[in-house]
Amino acid sequence: MTDLLIKGADLIGKGRKDILVRDGRVAEVGSVSAKDAASFNGTVVDADGLVLLPGLVDLHTHLREPGREDAETVYSGTRAAAKGGYTAVCAMANSYPVADTAGVVEQVAALGKAAGYADVQPIGAVSVGLEGKQLAEIGAMAHSAAAVRMFSDDGHCVSDPIMMRRALEYVKTFGGLIAQHAEEPRLTEGAQMNEGAVSAELGLPGWPAVAEEAIIARDVLLAEYTGARVHFCHVSTARSVDIIREAKARGAKVTAEVCPHHLLLTDEAARTYDPVYKVNPPLRRESDVAVLRGALAEGVIDAVATDHAPHAPQDKDCEWAAARPGMLGLETALSITVLALGGPSAVDWDVVAERTSRTPARIAGLEAHGRDPQPGTEANFTLVDPAATWTVVPADLASLSRNTPYAGMELPVTVQATFLRGRATVLNGKIAEETTE
Ligand code: NCD
Repeated sequence: MTDLLIKGADLIGKGRKDILVRDGRVAEVGSVSAKDAASFNGTVVDADGLVLLPGLVDLHTHLREPGREDAETVYSGTRAAAKGGYTAVCAMANSYPVADTAGVVEQVAALGKAAGYADVQPIGAVSVGLEGKQLAEIGAMAHSAAAVRMFSDDGHCVSDPIMMRRALEYVKTFGGLIAQHAEEPRLTEGAQMNEGAVSAELGLPGWPAVAEEAIIARDVLLAEYTGARVHFCHVSTARSVDIIREAKARGAKVTAEVCPHHLLLTDEAARTYDPVYKVNPPLRRESDVAVLRGALAEGVIDAVATDHAPHAPQDKDCEWAAARPGMLGLETALSITVLALGGPSAVDWDVVAERTSRTPARIAGLEAHGRDPQPGTEANFTLVDPAATWTVVPADLASLSRNTPYAGMELPVTVQATFLRGRATVLNGKIAEETTE
């Protein structure tokens, strides 16, 4: 039932190959004869002209369930993920209730399994209720059926240094990591957008770059001191990149992600006063965008992560100051990443695979993901058309929410098919409606 034959896909570094999948795993990579193909009793996909990537892995997805099912559910969010080429997503903990107990993380994982569109790996909260006062049940979540390895108070910074130290010491005991939303809260009180010339002109309170950089610098030191792993969420400034580069050169166990919107958009967008551009951390300057792009190409920034943040209309279609921060990301991330890495004709697909799939899978410890096809590996892939373009139409998105900053934009690269353990979750660019394994 999960037997699949992909014909003539462009495999990164290996040229055109056929891939035979049996029972959800790769059985053969090579060239299947016309006779064998004709007698093949499963799904046959013609991948002529398509690039095969290991299924994308998102380290940072807000699925909103439980609690804000009006904005997104595990079902709708993972359908959006599949459409974007993802086979695994890490679900952020800022749900209602917060994912700070074994019960909530197990529920989120179970909803992901039931939906069947992508593997859902819950992220556990660092502190109870994301309040930064008391450590959450980190051990119970780690040892639960959801096997949580990554913990984050995302939306909030773990700003108390003693709490960060204790959390790092705790997760180190089982090889876990803390994903830090780096924002010194005293420096961003009341902030509405990037602090700089544009905020001064618009008269909106600014979110200074140093609020991110100060926490990253501190946490690099704490990571080195404790010997534990820290991952930096949504890195948005040039100076943050410098600090991470220096930390890595010293051998600190730090990794970092960048969001597609920070690779493309700038604080100039705030001039529209359209809250679709309000996000945390905020859109920065052109010079930051350039440095982030370079750092992603180079690998100082390890991964692209969407920070997919769906919001219901009442939380977004209002005045700037009242709107919640956050924008959709799953269905557009690959296209924006390709743009940021030089566009479809110049892009190095190996770097795309590394930053959107292999490395994030490694950071999250998702061993069945981020693998190029080889006999025995799970068939988690996506097929993309590098020559195609598409226009973002919010009403066509699989997400329940509509807060995309790319509405009406023409973007390069389409996702033609996504396979989760050999089963198509997306085929011919459309979501498969039957997902039972
Ligand atoms: C996030 C959300 O909406 O959950 N929003 C965002 O702008 N990234 C949380 C947050 O980091 O504020």
